[in-house]
Amino acid sequence: MADQVTVFAPASMGNVAVGYDVLGAALDGLGDRVTVRRLDAPTVRVGTITGRVTDLPTTPADNTATAALQSLQDATDVDIGFEVSIEKGIPLGSGLGGSAASAVGAVVAGAELLPDAWSPADLLPHALAGEAVASGDLHPDNVAPCLFGGLVLTRAMDPPDVVPIPVPADIRCVLVRPDRILPTREARACLPDAIPLSESVRQTAHLGAFVAGCYRDDLALIGRALRDLIVEPHRAALVPAFADVQGAAMSEGALGCSLSGAGPTLFAWCEGPGGAERVRDAMTEAFARHDVPTEAWISPIPPEGARTAAPSPADR
Ligand code: HSE
Repeated sequence: MADQVTVFAPASMGNVAVGYDVLGAALDGLGDRVTVRRLDAPTVRVGTITGRVTDLPTTPADNTATAALQSLQDATDVDIGFEVSIEKGIPLGSGLGGSAASAVGAVVAGAELLPDAWSPADLLPHALAGEAVASGDLHPDNVAPCLFGGLVLTRAMDPPDVVPIPVPADIRCVLVRPDRILPTREARACLPDAIPLSESVRQTAHLGAFVAGCYRDDLALIGRALRDLIVEPHRAALVPAFADVQGAAMSEGALGCSLSGAGPTLFAWCEGPGGAERVRDAMTEAFARHDVPTEAWISPIPPEGARTAAPSPADR
């Protein structure tokens, strides 16, 4: 058995506008590289943190990766420990599932060092325990797509019931991140504890229609359904120029545009690479008109989640 394993854990977008806390999608080309090394004593510790973010907590209980590994270790009777090193590729507080990726990468790599085989569903509760350290809540909409890949709906967490949903091949996701940090805890604190039944009814209709549109390869239906009527109104003010950027995306033909997870990154689902490039340009120009620097990506929704990878140079 290997002494250390490296895993690439992809970024993800939570909520996908229609399914607050239950729907999420993996993203391509952006992620964390997590290396877990076996220790002879049953302890868990943070090794090196490199990449785009280096000032993560090093106390095991406060770090999403070590908290997830501690949960995994507590569930086994194997007398080994784990040291985790992270090369962060996902910006902090961006709404791109950075804390989930570190937690998922840690448990997928850690499980490879254990004698038994662990499925993504087995690992879900442990990754969630790590994610909860960052957001203060158990929400699976980043952890599940990061583990399973693709677009997934988590019907229940205990026991895990994660439902993969097909994504039409033409869909491209534009992501535009304003140069701001928005902690998930803060973005969750501004939401109401309860919503009127009528709002829940309208959003349920949109979620159902969106899922049907995905199964039917019906981009027009996806375009009518991809709306967040319950969360976005409370969070829009946290993102500079939100309305202008969303308007620019929709004017250029986006099927829908809203917050990626808790924000401040905005996403837009678009038809094909050409459509996505036009929408990306319109969104970045709209932010620029408000003097907000951005970075942007165009991603398909990849079917693969976290997987073993070559180690980072520092871990070779
Ligand atoms: N569903 C979570 C939220 C996602 O919107 O708070 C956090 O990325």
